[in-house]
Amino acid sequence: MNKIVTRRSLTPEITLFEVEAPRIARRWKPGQFLIVRPTPESERIPLTIVDGSAERGTITMVVQAIGKTTKVLAMLGEEESISDLVGPLGEPATIHHAGRVLTVGGGVGVAELLPVARAFRQAGNHVTAICGARSVKHIILDEELHSAADEVLWSTDDGSNGFRGNVVDLMRTWYDEENGPKLAHVIGPIPMMRAAAGLTQEWGVPTFASLNPVMIDGTGMCGGCRVTVGGRVRFACVEGPEFDAHQVDFDELAHRNRAYGEFERRALDGHECRIGLNGCAV
Ligand code: FAD
Ligand code: FES
Ligand code: MG
Repeated sequence: MNKIVTRRSLTPEITLFEVEAPRIARRWKPGQFLIVRPTPESERIPLTIVDGSAERGTITMVVQAIGKTTKVLAMLGEEESISDLVGPLGEPATIHHAGRVLTVGGGVGVAELLPVARAFRQAGNHVTAICGARSVKHIILDEELHSAADEVLWSTDDGSNGFRGNVVDLMRTWYDEENGPKLAHVIGPIPMMRAAAGLTQEWGVPTFASLNPVMIDGTGMCGGCRVTVGGRVRFACVEGPEFDAHQVDFDELAHRNRAYGEFERRALDGHECRIGLNGCAV
């Protein structure tokens, strides 16, 4: 059991948890993730390690409540415990000195971007973080990003903060060919990663994408996280989650991520029914 020492709502849907996990806190690297089972009855889900402190013996994760298991997790409070955490899993992000680095994140992907942006800066790069949110109310971790990157730019769909539009439009506006990035890292919803990767390919900038396929065991055994990169089958949990963004088959990834939609809807309806949220008589 891993005790929750801090729980903070970042938006109505996004919650930050700092959890006791001393062995993971000593070993994690940016880009790695956990397989989390919130309660003994829960399924297992992957969540990125956003931060970790060997001194405090804790790790931090940020979860967006979108379905049954993430909602069950978001309902846990301080002093309660998470049933189990396995990690650190996956390969760390590729971090090296490239000069100017562009990091791009959308939605909860902004949390996943934070440790990567920080690591690029610690490696001596000038780091720009271009981040997207639906509106100013959905902006997360802005202060932390400012401490991790040299430049932080936000786009919001409704223009309530920063650039009005999506992150890819903001990337276009920001780009300066003479002073452009030498490397890019993107993380977020699949359509965003696909469009961002398309743009950096036009610019000729090598780009890594941190992929989010359905993961079950996280150890290379089940095949759930199969992705195609450069025409080759890869398993994101053990060979990723980061891959060459210009080689990823994003259509296949989007298709596979929708495969269990009907089961996910039924699981969520049943959960909301039990906790009295969708008006059913139980
Ligand atoms: P469901 O209703 O079951 O599913 C909603 C959607 O989430 C599905 O349509 C599918 O696209 C995706 N999904 C469902 N089950 C899984 C699964 N087992 N593995 C991956 N995706 C799934 N989310 C965060 O909020 N914060 C993070 O830091 C974060 N990091 C991630 C890191 C990795 C490496 C991966 C692969 C995913 C990450 N995710 C993260 C996504 C998160 O795992 C899913 O949102 C979560 O599993 C949904 O579970 P659910 O039961 O609440 O929703
Ligand atoms: Fe099972 Fe990757 S999650 S092989
Ligand atoms: Mg689920």
